[in-house]
Parts: sequence; C-alpha cells; structure tokens
Amino acid sequence: MNDRPIQIEFQLNGELRTLEVEPRARLLDVLRYEIDCPGTKEGCGEGECGACTVLLDGLPTNSCLVPAWQARGREVVTIESVTPEDVSRMLDAGTTQCGACTPGVVMTARWAEANPELLAQFDLRQLMAGNLCRCTGYDGIIDGIELPSGQEAD
Ligand code: FES
Ligand code: FES
Repeated sequence: MNDRPIQIEFQLNGELRTLEVEPRARLLDVLRYEIDCPGTKEGCGEGECGACTVLLDGLPTNSCLVPAWQARGREVVTIESVTPEDVSRMLDAGTTQCGACTPGVVMTARWAEANPELLAQFDLRQLMAGNLCRCTGYDGIIDGIELPSGQEAD
C-alpha cells in the first residue's frame, strides 16, 4: 500500500476543511488530534460502542472504523456543532452521566430527531441500538430525545 499522505477536502460542521491525512489514519483520530475537535470520544475502538459516532453525510457513523480519507468530498458533523439549546430536552432529562458515551448518543439522537420517517418505521430503541451505555441505562436516553409532535417513544 502506498503510504504517502492523501490530501482531502470535506465539510466539517459546515466549514470547508483541507488537510493531508495518512492513508491508515482513522477519522476519529484526525478529528481529535489534527483538527482540534476532541469532543468525539473513543470507547471500544472497534465499532461496538458508538462513543465515536459522527454524522457522515447525515448518517450516524463509527468514526473509529472509517479511514479519514473516506471523508473526502463529504460532510462530517460532530458534537462540536451542537449547542445546549439543541439538546435542552436531553439536559433536562439527565440523559447520560458520563463523558464517554454522551457525544455519540447526542449525534445518533439528532439523526433520529431529524428523520421522522424512520421513527414511524422503527422503535426509537432500535435506532439507538448502536450506542451502548454501561451506567445510566436507556430510559433517560429515550426520554431525552425530542420526538416530532404526535410521536411517542415505545
Ligand atoms: S469507539 Fe468507535 S464504536 Fe466504540
Ligand atoms: S452514561 Fe455514559 S456509558 Fe452510560
């Protein structure tokens, strides 16, 4: 494999970014250590916990599994784009307790909130199934998600 750095250009939280990445660099590490977006966290590092979730072209994605170069020409949204106002219901509900899972939970929740058609097809707990919580439990997470009016979590 060619080990030369790859130049990529992509949208990060609405801003065009250009940088060189190592071919094997994970998106998670590039975000945390090369672009100063440390809000995205590493848990398992192998695609099982969801702590590292970002939105890649609008879809929840485990950034620990994605080579950074695959963000080329795409849109990445991270926890840094979220304001307290955006997640006021989660804050009120005390959705999570630890800093490890919270960014991933928030990103997946924002995706669910933005896609009412998915909420019509799937149980909210199914949509959040990729985000593991080892301490608070899932009721607070489900309570904290802002459902479109008229929809209720099961
Ligand atoms: S750190 Fe990426 S899924 Fe757990
Ligand atoms: S609140 Fe973070 S793992 Fe449960």
